[in-house]
Amino acid sequence: MARTTLTRTVLAAVSAASLFALGACSSDAGTEPAGGGETAAADDGVITLGFSQVGAESGWRAANTKSIQDTLTAENGFDLKFSDAQQKQENQIQAIRSYITQGVDVIAFSPVVETGWDAVLQEAKAAGIPVILTDRAVDSSDETLYESFIGSDFVKEGEMAGEWVAEQYDGEGYKAVELQGTTGAAPAIDRKEGFASAIEGTDIELIDSQTGNFTRAEGKTVMEGFLNAHDDIDLVFAHNDDMGLGAIEAIEAAGLTPGEDIKIVTIDAVKDGMQALADGKINYIVECNPLLGPDLADIAKKVLAGEEVEKRIVVKDEAFDQAAAKEALPTREY
Ligand code: AHR
Repeated sequence: MARTTLTRTVLAAVSAASLFALGACSSDAGTEPAGGGETAAADDGVITLGFSQVGAESGWRAANTKSIQDTLTAENGFDLKFSDAQQKQENQIQAIRSYITQGVDVIAFSPVVETGWDAVLQEAKAAGIPVILTDRAVDSSDETLYESFIGSDFVKEGEMAGEWVAEQYDGEGYKAVELQGTTGAAPAIDRKEGFASAIEGTDIELIDSQTGNFTRAEGKTVMEGFLNAHDDIDLVFAHNDDMGLGAIEAIEAAGLTPGEDIKIVTIDAVKDGMQALADGKINYIVECNPLLGPDLADIAKKVLAGEEVEKRIVVKDEAFDQAAAKEALPTREY
């Protein structure tokens, strides 16, 4: 089967990246509340952008961080302040508050979980600092708290995975297990929903589902637990490649052959996942494009220039079977 659904390409700049510690310099703060017209960038034209990253939990996250650091460079007119929240919401809130205190021109972040952001986003709004969401959404009824949300449609990703599984295996009475992403995170909630709706009405039964927190180590541990609890697993749906790669280790340690005895479907399509797909250990991967740096730079510049920006920018994703992975790997960017 060939690739599916290629529409929008996000370009990645390629250069060496340096990690900016949180803290240090300040810049001119924005002077208008979010949605209140043109917001001031620094007098020297440099845009100081404070970015709070979820963590470094997966290959996808590493590629996403690289895209942001490679794009928001001094040459491109940015002073990037970058912080890693180590998958903790309290660290992200602390980082955002620090960016507000420093008076950065714009704040961007990828929320580790969906809920609990209104208070800190109100603080940013009151300080006149626009906020851009990347990768993951917040669950808030007040859309004035952020300017734009750039990222994939996670429900659709789950659906694409489920549709492929239904197409391949409906009628065979498959028992499936699910390795969920971080509890409360938008991709975990949405991919679960999309997959479940796509296999509804088939004879594929989801017999177990637990979080592996988007990491390879936890994916392996949870899969070991699944294998101990069930002797009839036919398929694993992992919410990201890393957990799928952890599951492969657990399946091999149990003396089974991943991709054959137990089929594996994942989301992300980062290099390690694509290699395992090409090697026959994974059966299908739905992409989640991590190259969000260029869109973030563009939207930040427009917001600070007082231009209209789209509230929701959907990054379109492809999907790969084993043959498509072999073809794509030599030129894969991440
Ligand atoms: O939010 C995107 C998800 O976060 C990726 O699928 C996963 O690998 C990452 O940790």
